[in-house]
Amino acid sequence: MERITVNASTDYEVMIGRGLLERAGDLISMAIAGKNKAEKPGEVVSAGNPNTGKTAVIVSDDNVFPLYGEKLKKSLQDAGFNTLEFVFPHGEKSKSLKTYGELLEFMCEKRVRRSDMIVALGGGVVGDLSGFAAATYQRGIDFIQVPTSLLAAVDSSVGGKTAVDLTNGKNQVGAFYQPRLVVCDTDTLSTLPKEEYACGCGEIIKYAILESDEFFEELLKTPVSDQYEKVISTCVTIKKHYVENDEFDTGLRMKLNLGHTFGHAVETCSGYTILHGQAVGMGIAAVTKAASEMGLCSKGTLTRILELLDKYELLREITYGIDEMYENIRVDKKNSGSITNLIVPVAIGNCKIMKIPTEKLKGWLEEGGVGPENA
Ligand SMILES: NC(=O)c1ccc[n+]([C@@H]2O[C@H](COP(=O)([O-])OP(=O)(O)OC[C@H]3O[C@@H](n4cnc5c(N)ncnc54)[C@H](O)[C@@H]3O)[C@@H](O)[C@H]2O)c1
Ligand SMILES: [Zn+2]
Repeated sequence: MERITVNASTDYEVMIGRGLLERAGDLISMAIAGKNKAEKPGEVVSAGNPNTGKTAVIVSDDNVFPLYGEKLKKSLQDAGFNTLEFVFPHGEKSKSLKTYGELLEFMCEKRVRRSDMIVALGGGVVGDLSGFAAATYQRGIDFIQVPTSLLAAVDSSVGGKTAVDLTNGKNQVGAFYQPRLVVCDTDTLSTLPKEEYACGCGEIIKYAILESDEFFEELLKTPVSDQYEKVISTCVTIKKHYVENDEFDTGLRMKLNLGHTFGHAVETCSGYTILHGQAVGMGIAAVTKAASEMGLCSKGTLTRILELLDKYELLREITYGIDEMYENIRVDKKNSGSITNLIVPVAIGNCKIMKIPTEKLKGWLEEGGVGPENA
């Protein structure tokens, strides 16, 4: 098992390894130890198991809960927790104010207290929604992430960004709220659909381009699925660095947006039929092509990046029109104002934040080979 400590506004551990789901109850119990003392005068705390009387609300979706819900539940109960479960339909559509409201009402109806906790079992949708509910229910209760998708393992479960979507925009309501613990059982990744695996690989490739030529080479040599523990811990270590230096995303953390400026626009243009990680891959390819055309990175760097994207089935042309893409970039909340912070690969392991006047992005899209002629 790998253990990585994230020192953010609250410190927490990320545990990565096989078979951790069965041990999750004990691991969670240890992580929250010290917070089990009576919080209000007169509250009775059992002298025996410190978790007696403490409720874990397992939040999951209807794909993941049938696969792993019972195992997690048993592990929590064995550690002395009461459990409740809230399962919603899978998919981004559920990352809504409606599901969020239903979860809060459910917890209130079941008399969940401030000393209880939410355990998010699933991908980024489950994690983002549960985290926001944990941040706001009774002004904040303990929150544990149990990521089951590759994307959640390498990205969304770490760093404390929580959110739900509004009708006209992704992640428009949320909070920075760090988990108390992240338990990543790599065995759960065996049931992940192929296209979701590719999505996780899109974000993994992003980390390699940002930080490490050596990691990049490793991904070319050995498939991610043959080295989950190593790859996830490398990515979490990279993300930790960004989160610790810029928890609230006002500077350095922006670099994690590599491939996302064009990627988000691809997602919107496709009506979300192109998945996030795939769109990120397409965004990375386009921004690197443009950088190479403009002499900001070498042709060799471009070739290597395209080769790695291809290896993970992420090399697809952007076939939407430049005007349509540009409109979507313009309204993205991260690009508000007249300047866009574009993350540009200079070499593998070295990217820079370029402040580009937003209207100039049309030129970047053109240089990046975006357009319907690719269809
Ligand atoms: N908070 C952050 O920092 C952050 C970072 C990146 C992405 N995100 C968010 O994360 C979300 C995307 O995350 P995601 O790709 O995990 O999406 P997701 O949660 O929708 O999971 C993808 C699909 O895989 C299924 N699934 C998950 N684990 C499985 C398993 N082990 N076996 C079988 N099926 C499984 C899910 O049911 C779902 O259908 C987006 O909403 C995005 O905005 C957040
Ligand atoms: Zn992403």
